[in-house]
Amino acid sequence: MSLSSSSVVSLLGTFLILSLLKRFSSFLWLYFLRPSSVYRFLHGQEPYALVTGATDGIGKEVARELYSRGFNLVLHGRNEAKLRKVIEEIGKDGSRNIKYFLASADRSDIDFAKISEQFKDLNITLLINNVGDGGSRTKRADAYSAEQLMGDVRVNCLFSFNLTHALLPKLRSAAGPALVVFVGSISADIHAPRLYNYAPCKSFLYQLTRCLNTDEKYWTPTNVSFTYMVVGEVVSNSMRSPAALFRPTSKVFARHFVEALGCGWERVAPYWLHSVQQWSVTLMGDKFVEWFAAQRMKDLLSQDLKWKASD
Ligand SMILES: NC(=O)c1ccc[n+]([C@@H]2O[C@H](COP(=O)([O-])OP(=O)(O)OC[C@H]3O[C@@H](n4cnc5c(N)ncnc54)[C@H](OP(=O)(O)O)[C@@H]3O)[C@@H](O)[C@H]2O)c1
Repeated sequence: MSLSSSSVVSLLGTFLILSLLKRFSSFLWLYFLRPSSVYRFLHGQEPYALVTGATDGIGKEVARELYSRGFNLVLHGRNEAKLRKVIEEIGKDGSRNIKYFLASADRSDIDFAKISEQFKDLNITLLINNVGDGGSRTKRADAYSAEQLMGDVRVNCLFSFNLTHALLPKLRSAAGPALVVFVGSISADIHAPRLYNYAPCKSFLYQLTRCLNTDEKYWTPTNVSFTYMVVGEVVSNSMRSPAALFRPTSKVFARHFVEALGCGWERVAPYWLHSVQQWSVTLMGDKFVEWFAAQRMKDLLSQDLKWKASD
């Protein structure tokens, strides 16, 4: 029996509609219907969340949100006075512990084993690898020294890689589920000029998430899983444009971010409008997106220069 061409077309149409419906229902479930899953990581005695780059922007607000949901905190920063001020602000009710460590993420001599040793008795169930810095490189890559660019690579991926490596045995010893998050960027999916020190690092973090997930899942499964968070524009210290529909404040974004923890997706945009943005990028075609990103990048770099001059 052979299928007529009209039956083939209607079969393909049905498949297309079903796959779109599946996608749409996953979207509704993820952002609007699903019960909160972050409480899966609140187990055992005094559970801790470790957040890197917690002195400003997204990291600071995610730390605040986690504290309000019952987590003790280990916060990372590079400036002790600034970090102590954040700790004072977040922990003013004194209901939970907040510990901290200092490290300039761009340095090559960080002793990650020592950092992990410092927290060996804590019940860490969440590791939020948030630290990152676009670096505002206004010139082409070869205008900077290899050491300057290596510093960017350390901040944007190697620090997270090494810290995760040092803390993995600790996370595996948690009595229940433990989650490692890598904070990514939508810029890894588009090709904008002057992001050579940043976007490739975010792609690395995504591949790392996938590989570490399979590593912990197969042969001898463990309690640890990994999620890569796709982030669009968010108002922060390094993104000082005004808040808008597609650019939430760090506070608003942090609420969505924390809600997405434990959702079970390997790669997720925690803010639903960033997810819509990401989807539209796939529809527009590479050439148009590249052109658009180049215009936006020009604006961002010139704004950044003005902010830095006025700081
Ligand atoms: N905001 C956005 O539009 C956007 C978009 C996509 C992805 N992201 C990602 O979101 C994450 C947070 O960014 P954000 O926008 O919240 O930035 P932010 O407000 O500038 O905060 C960055 C945090 O990282 C720390 N940090 C930066 N460089 C460091 C270094 N060399 N050593 C140690 N700490 C360092 C900062 O410390 P100081 O307070 O001492 O500066 C601060 O705590 C990053 O991974 C970024 O790539 C942000």
